[in-house]
Amino acid sequence: MNESICRILEWDSEFFDRKIASFTSPRLTVLELGEALDWCGQNAVDCLYYLADSGDIECCNAAERKGFLLADIRITLERSVTSYKSPFSVEDRRILRHAREGDLGGLRLIAGESHTDSRFYADSQFSREKCSALYKVWIEKSCRGYADAVLVAESAGKVAGYVSCHLKEASVGQIGLAGIDKGFRGRGYGTLLVHEALDWFAGRSISKVSVVTQGRNIKAQRLYEQCGFFTSAVQIWFHRWFTQKH
Ligand SMILES: CC(C)(COP(=O)(O)OP(=O)(O)OC[C@H]1O[C@@H](n2cnc3c(N)ncnc32)[C@H](O)[C@@H]1OP(=O)(O)O)[C@@H](O)C(=O)NCCC(=O)NCCS
Repeated sequence: MNESICRILEWDSEFFDRKIASFTSPRLTVLELGEALDWCGQNAVDCLYYLADSGDIECCNAAERKGFLLADIRITLERSVTSYKSPFSVEDRRILRHAREGDLGGLRLIAGESHTDSRFYADSQFSREKCSALYKVWIEKSCRGYADAVLVAESAGKVAGYVSCHLKEASVGQIGLAGIDKGFRGRGYGTLLVHEALDWFAGRSISKVSVVTQGRNIKAQRLYEQCGFFTSAVQIWFHRWFTQKH
C-alpha cells in the first residue's frame, strides 16, 4: 500500500497528547479510506482526521460505516474585495486598531470562551479545557506573527473583539479567527471588524477574501453573509478514534 496515505500531525499530537494523523491527499477513494485505518493501526495512531467533500456521498457513507465521528460541517465563504470601500465612517472606525502586546491577556480570555462551535469542542475525546487552551494559543500565535494582522475593537479601554488576517497565495486573503467578548456581542463589533479586515486586505492588492466557519455556527454565517460573503464550499470533518480518552 501507499505508505504516504496519512501523516502524523506533530503539532496537534503534542498539544493534545494523543497521536493524531490526517490524510495527505485531499481526494480519497473508499478503498484508500480502508487502507488508512490499517496504516493507523500499524502506526499506533489515536485519532485520524478526515476532511471529506460533502458531495462525495460514497466516501461520506463509507466513513460512517467505518466508525468515523461527524465532528463538523466546514463552511467556506468568500467575497471579492476588488474596488471594496468600507461602509463605515472614520468616526465609527476610531475604536479599531492593530493588536498590541498589552492586549494579549484580554484576547486570550475572549478566544478561550468563543470558539465552542468548533470541531474540537464537538468531539468529547478532547477536554473542554484543552479546546479552550487551543484557541488561546492560536490567538497569541496569531499576534506573534502567525497571522499577517490582528485587528481589535476597543471599548472603554477594554478589548471587545478581534479578527485575524492572513495573506495567502497571490491576491487571496483569508480571515482566520474572529471573536467578540460575550458582553459585547450583538452590538455591531463583529460587523465592524470584518469590514475593517476587508479594508485591510483591499489595501494590499488582494482581490478575494475567504473565511471558514462551522455549519452549526449560524451567527457567524449571518455575520459573513451580511458582510457580502457567499458560500463557496461545504466539507465534512470526520474524526476516527482508535483509543479512548486517558
Ligand atoms: C459571530 C460573532 C463574531 C458575531 O459578532 P457580533 O459582534 O455579535 O456581531 P454583530 O453585532 O456585528 O452582528 C450580530 C447581530 O447583531 C445585530 N446587530 C448589529 N449591530 C447591532 C446593534 N447596534 N444593535 C442591535 N443589533 C445589532 C446584527 O444585525 C446581527 O444580527 P443577526 O445575528 O440577527 O444577523 C460573535 O457572536 C462571536 O464572537 N461568536 C463566537 C466566535 C465565533 O463564532 N467566531 C466566528 C467564527 S470563527
